[in-house]
Amino acid sequence: MKRTKIAGIGHYVPEKCVTNQDLTQYMDTSDEWIQERTGIKERRYAENHKETTSTLGTRAAEIAIENAGIDKNEIDFIIFATLSADYFFPGCGVLLQRELGITKTEIGALDIRNQCSGFIYGLSVADQFIRSGMYKNILLVGAEMHSMGLDFSTEGRGVTVIFGDGAGAVVLQPTEEEGKGVLTTHLHSDGTNAEELAMINPGSHGGYHGNKEKYGFEDDGHPGGIFVTQKMVDDNLLAPNMNGQLVFKKAVQKFPEVIHEALNVTGLKTDDIDLLIPHQANLRISAFVQKSLGLKDHQVFNNIHKYGNTTAASIPIAMSEALQEGRIKENDLLCLAAFGSGFTWGSALIRM
Ligand code: ACO
Repeated sequence: MKRTKIAGIGHYVPEKCVTNQDLTQYMDTSDEWIQERTGIKERRYAENHKETTSTLGTRAAEIAIENAGIDKNEIDFIIFATLSADYFFPGCGVLLQRELGITKTEIGALDIRNQCSGFIYGLSVADQFIRSGMYKNILLVGAEMHSMGLDFSTEGRGVTVIFGDGAGAVVLQPTEEEGKGVLTTHLHSDGTNAEELAMINPGSHGGYHGNKEKYGFEDDGHPGGIFVTQKMVDDNLLAPNMNGQLVFKKAVQKFPEVIHEALNVTGLKTDDIDLLIPHQANLRISAFVQKSLGLKDHQVFNNIHKYGNTTAASIPIAMSEALQEGRIKENDLLCLAAFGSGFTWGSALIRM
């Protein structure tokens, strides 16, 4: 039976390290508050004007390709997951193709916009392509450059302290090896609370979902609409917003649910999980999920203290580090799970 295996993994984080203490220069916050509520000690920020989301992704992809032992020109499909793309369009997939120096045009590049769940959504799509025989070397990348879109005033502190920059990548190939590879993936969405963890502006909404006045949409004086208003700039409405308590409540419910769903389908139990790599949203969320599943410390991987929440990049960065640290071995059962903006959530089980 043909399945999808991870042939190579790589990650890249920018050099610039920003500690909680560093952030106190810009906003009213403290190392103690941030560590207690999120577990984060520091995060990395890309070098503005010199690095972008697609260049971070490219650095991670180069390592994954090398570790897979293939040439970049053997990649036959690119999937790029991010919420912080270089441009509104085109997406980062083609920019990464160019940056990698892949000149052949017989490949597709797909952009995924599922925020924290982006890597698992991308993995699920790639898995279908590989199992159907359509592609043999898919490059799946999760990368974020949050630092360019955060509000560094005290008003934005509830969101800003959580996020960091980084990238992770995997090369996915078919395998016929008995019992190995991606065993199952599960994807979910519920748009009811779409605006509760979101970056609303700029966008084409024109106030349709409410708050026409808040965003400054008035008579545009032409047949089209307005993408960015002066009021958005003046009132600091071009940064992400988050209803932290709602996110917490939903996340601690959906993570265990979607992990159980994957285990039930495959007839496996929580005891069978060698390593759970949850999306690194917040250490308190991961601790809650660990407790609710009854997992031991050695069964769960966390690195949020070093990088903060890197959204679509957090799972592949963690996978890459776990492998380097010897926490993932041949035949191990790896469980991936994510919850985030949308809301969307998902899980995957992989026999390594
Ligand atoms: N530094 C200092 N004080 C802060 C900060 C900060 N960075 N941010 C908020 N505060 C203040 C608030 O202003 C508030 O002050 P007040 O009591 O004077 O009004 C106080 O701290 C408590 O604020 P709450 O929002 O009620 O704090 P809460 O205990 O809910 O913690 C947090 C906030 C950490 C965001 C929490 O809700 C949480 O963990 N939510 C989950 C969200 C999350 O992890 N998101 C990750 C990204 S989304 C994802 O990946 C799924």
